[in-house]
Amino acid sequence: MTEYTPRIVRTKPGKEFIKTVARLIWNQLEDLHEPLITLPTGSTPLDLYQYFIDEYGDRAEIWRQIRLVALDEYIGLPADDRRLFQNWLGREILDPVGVPPQKRVTFNSMAEDADAEAQAMEQWIRDNGPIGLAILGLGLNGHIAFNEPGSSFDSVTRVIELSPETRETNAAYWGGIDKVPEQAFTLGLKTLAQAKQIFLLVTGSHKAEILDKTLNGPITPEVPASFLRTIANVTIMADTAALEG
Ligand code: GLP
Repeated sequence: MTEYTPRIVRTKPGKEFIKTVARLIWNQLEDLHEPLITLPTGSTPLDLYQYFIDEYGDRAEIWRQIRLVALDEYIGLPADDRRLFQNWLGREILDPVGVPPQKRVTFNSMAEDADAEAQAMEQWIRDNGPIGLAILGLGLNGHIAFNEPGSSFDSVTRVIELSPETRETNAAYWGGIDKVPEQAFTLGLKTLAQAKQIFLLVTGSHKAEILDKTLNGPITPEVPASFLRTIANVTIMADTAALEG
């Protein structure tokens, strides 16, 4: 297994992180023709998305070219549920900047056959990819997208059982852990590895321990993000709180 040293972009927390990351993402979007991208949900990118709306919101010629493929999604929720990632992304970034709805390829959370839905997404990416830019967040347990600990480095888009830790982390959004869905769709690690560029965004001292394991620990399915060290085109964008604790 070849190991690469990922490029690390290090900034102060807050505005400097957001401005730096926004510029680097924007450069990629301008360089790619009809870019196929995937975006994370969660608290990490929230201010960044607002910044895009405020500072780049008028660049319609870029936004309307973008094609979005879902990174992950909860299973079993109706299409209008606010907690679906596709709806969250719509509200927080895609609708305000004007990425056309017909250019968003998302999972059907209510699909009768969830495995077939996942396979169809993998096939769609094979036929329409590669992903030009995959922007990822880092879960506290080392997950990327919803590739939970134990995910194989050969994994493709599939249904996954969410770990108790992940469900606990998200419990507040759902009004208790019992209400958090048990299953989700996720693009696989191998699926993500084929992206032309991967940006991993990590902020805050609560991520310091898992970022250290990601960068310096063993490369193991127990820390799915450590797999990023086996891929060439990875940039870790982290603030000093996440890098230093
Ligand atoms: C969530 C999502 C990921 C996200 C991660 C980190 O559960 N499935 O796509 O990147 O966890 O979230 P946060 O930025 O809130 O820490």
